[in-house]
Amino acid sequence: MQLRCFDPACAAQLPLHSSALACPTCGGLLEIETDPVAMEASELKQLWSDRRRSRDPRDLSGVWRYREFLPDYPASEVVTLGEGNTPLVRGHKAADYAGVADLQFKHLGWNPTGSFKDLGMTVGMTEALHVKSKVVACASTGNTSAALAAYAARAGLVARIYIPAGQISLNKLAQSLDFGAEVVEIEGSFDDALNTLLEKSREGIYFLNSINPFRIEGQKTTMFELMDQLDWKVPDYLFVPGGNLGNSSAFGKGFEELLRAGLIDRAPRMIVVQAAGANPFARMWREQAAELTPVAEPETIATAIRIGNPRSWQKSLRGVRKTGGQVIDATDEEIGEAKAVIGRDGIGCEPASAATLAGLRKLRASGVVPKDASVVAILTGHALKDTNFIIRQHQREEAHAH
Ligand code: F0G
Repeated sequence: MQLRCFDPACAAQLPLHSSALACPTCGGLLEIETDPVAMEASELKQLWSDRRRSRDPRDLSGVWRYREFLPDYPASEVVTLGEGNTPLVRGHKAADYAGVADLQFKHLGWNPTGSFKDLGMTVGMTEALHVKSKVVACASTGNTSAALAAYAARAGLVARIYIPAGQISLNKLAQSLDFGAEVVEIEGSFDDALNTLLEKSREGIYFLNSINPFRIEGQKTTMFELMDQLDWKVPDYLFVPGGNLGNSSAFGKGFEELLRAGLIDRAPRMIVVQAAGANPFARMWREQAAELTPVAEPETIATAIRIGNPRSWQKSLRGVRKTGGQVIDATDEEIGEAKAVIGRDGIGCEPASAATLAGLRKLRASGVVPKDASVVAILTGHALKDTNFIIRQHQREEAHAH
């Protein structure tokens, strides 16, 4: 395995453990080029099924169980909290609300720190430890920082998090404090916080934002686990919320590798849903523009995806195109309403996750998604990630009722 520049016109190669965050030749995004796996698809499926009876900490992780497709580390180096293994839950009221018959939620909010970020962080932190880092850092809208703080604590590393002051959920900030992170508040948006971090000297600090290709590797295993849970029967549509676009990038890479290994014969159409006030990717898609134009002042109640300048858009775009998907957006009102429906199904999620159901309802209404389509929506964060939002939403409803 090695690192490779994502831009096919450059395609520069670097050693896997070189800790680079951008291509030294062209400045582009890097990705990990995995080696073709020598096993048959049927052998892999059997191996992964057998590992469910094992007590090896790597087999108990829903990420490392699929390690044939991950960078190789000695078992003793793997930093894990038993992430993954999240259930597929059928949404009944949500299916009625969207107007489809077959809707399942893959709830990544039921991970150790309550969001999908744990899936990438287990691999990113393992790599940080492997290259002998002492300090790890990220900019965050709250979930990456909570995951970074937890996994750094497990690994015995110092965690430093850059957050937009006053703009992240207190529940998420509380998690990072609980896990012992150093918190740096930046006046401005998430994009400002990320810029501040990237301008800093990387001397002795290992950066764990989603431009870090090791995080993408962990997150891609969501699609391995999902297909495994579906007994390798591919759904028609996959809905995923889009912020910095790391997760949809990871899923696109996952599909490419699953197809290449013969584990699936087609991919679901991937629909990325942004918040309407932070929608540079959806706008680019609508306008069929060649480049992404950042949104200068992103604004949405879904603070997790309040991002104006998503870094991984090229990677995400490849996944959307290759699967025959689309990029759309949903208003705050649509997101809030969809979130309440997911709550009534007894599932719950944070606002950003509900963008998926809001997006599905829209594409069903416009006839893009047929009624009999099989749909999986990715829920990215736990309901308790943003309790203030829920309380305020219900206070508003009370006020309307009187
Ligand atoms: N949903 C939740 C709950 C998130 O926290 C994020 C991103 C996303 C969706 C979007 O995922 O960026 O991969 O497109 N949160 C990041 C953070 C930015 O710092 O926690 P993406």
